[in-house]
Amino acid sequence: MSSLNKDCLSSVAIDETWSFADKTIKDTTYITHGYYTYPAKFIPQLVSRLINELSFEDDIIIDPFMGSGTTIVESIVNKRIGIGTDINDIAYLLAKVKTTPIEPFALIEEFNKIKLDLLHRLNGQYNFFSNQSANLLPQNERIDYWFLPEQKQKLSIIFTRILEITNKDIRDFFLVSFAQILKSCSIWMQKSVKPTRDKNKKMYNPLLLFLNQANKMVRKNNDFNEILDKQIKENIDDYRKISCEDSRNLPCEDGVSSLIITSPPYVTSYEYADLHQLPSLWFGYLGDLAEFRKKFIGSAYKSKESIDLKSSLAEEIINKLGNNKKGREVKNYFADMLESFIEMKRVLKIGGKACIVIGNTQFKGVDILNAEVFQEQFENIGFKTYNVIHRKIPSKMLPSTRDISTGQFVKSTNSSLKFAYPTEYILIMEKL
Ligand SMILES: C[S@@+](CC[C@H](N)C(=O)[O-])C[C@H]1O[C@@H](n2cnc3c(N)ncnc32)[C@H](O)[C@@H]1O
Repeated sequence: MSSLNKDCLSSVAIDETWSFADKTIKDTTYITHGYYTYPAKFIPQLVSRLINELSFEDDIIIDPFMGSGTTIVESIVNKRIGIGTDINDIAYLLAKVKTTPIEPFALIEEFNKIKLDLLHRLNGQYNFFSNQSANLLPQNERIDYWFLPEQKQKLSIIFTRILEITNKDIRDFFLVSFAQILKSCSIWMQKSVKPTRDKNKKMYNPLLLFLNQANKMVRKNNDFNEILDKQIKENIDDYRKISCEDSRNLPCEDGVSSLIITSPPYVTSYEYADLHQLPSLWFGYLGDLAEFRKKFIGSAYKSKESIDLKSSLAEEIINKLGNNKKGREVKNYFADMLESFIEMKRVLKIGGKACIVIGNTQFKGVDILNAEVFQEQFENIGFKTYNVIHRKIPSKMLPSTRDISTGQFVKSTNSSLKFAYPTEYILIMEKL
């Protein structure tokens, strides 16, 4: 427990034990954590440690920004009940698949069937496109923007075969395998998280990529089945409740949870909408990208002129940024996050803890002290600071550099850049 001045979090000593620098990719992608490369995904060991230090078996743990569901997976592995929401359908699909143990023999049987069918169909042993499934070849100019015609055709054959699977859990499982290979099969610049085209990109065989990915996931599903408590495995719907909802509208009653563990989106969080556009396009989740972006925390499209941000530091930061698009974005972001914290307060028990993993950054020379602002907001709505952990980020997947002039994420090879999140904080706030 520590008592901290909200203005000086950077002076909190870095606690190396929270960096998990010794963890290999194999460790951090164990069981279902390795199903999909989700940006800014939690290290599962960090979540597990928080769960074990701050909650008991059968407690309800909530992640209002669950992303790919790391908190929910670790909750059920540690015999807790996990509740999670995310605004993004892709995140919901990932979290659902990552928390659904499938009976291993049923999965392998289905996988063998798909494999045979796809080898048959893709090797052209019968004219697939003369059969009635041909109309599943997606007609979408954004798909044509990202995929060369031959790759699109091969992917359509795989996608169509997956949709023929009647068991929904197994179908969703293979949809995640499909989602994971889309970037490699597209002309999206492989090393870039931003939507940038690379017309000279080397093309890989979609069938081989899909079968490799599915095979890897089948093995991880076996590991997941082995690690899970039998009682939890057989009653999985009682142990995890996930939904595609706004974090400000959590689908649970007041005061039910003893622990929240979450990593909220960052200020320009609508970038998340862009990041997942390839699977969203194939799965038909994305009508209009501009509309979709508006749902994200901190979207610049809404105006919130007269809101009390419950943080003098937030006001100071916004004044420094000035009355421009960036200033409005940051203001909306702090306002949206405040609403989300009020919702967290509603669902927590008295004495319950909210663990918020967040880093600070800079836009045009102005320090955006997210951690200090969040701490002030929490304290002003009825929480006290229980602890603040300062940790290095050795292997987070969030791109670690921003262009100094625009504040946008860019490729880390550019020399005029600044590290955006070299360290981050785990704010542990206790409901009074
Ligand atoms: C940093 S990521 C969370 C990653 C997660 N910890 C994991 O391990 O995969 C933040 C998430 O917030 C989600 N998000 C953005 N706006 C939201 C909102 N209004 N309600 C719920 N989730 C939102 C994004 O879709 C994104 O998945």
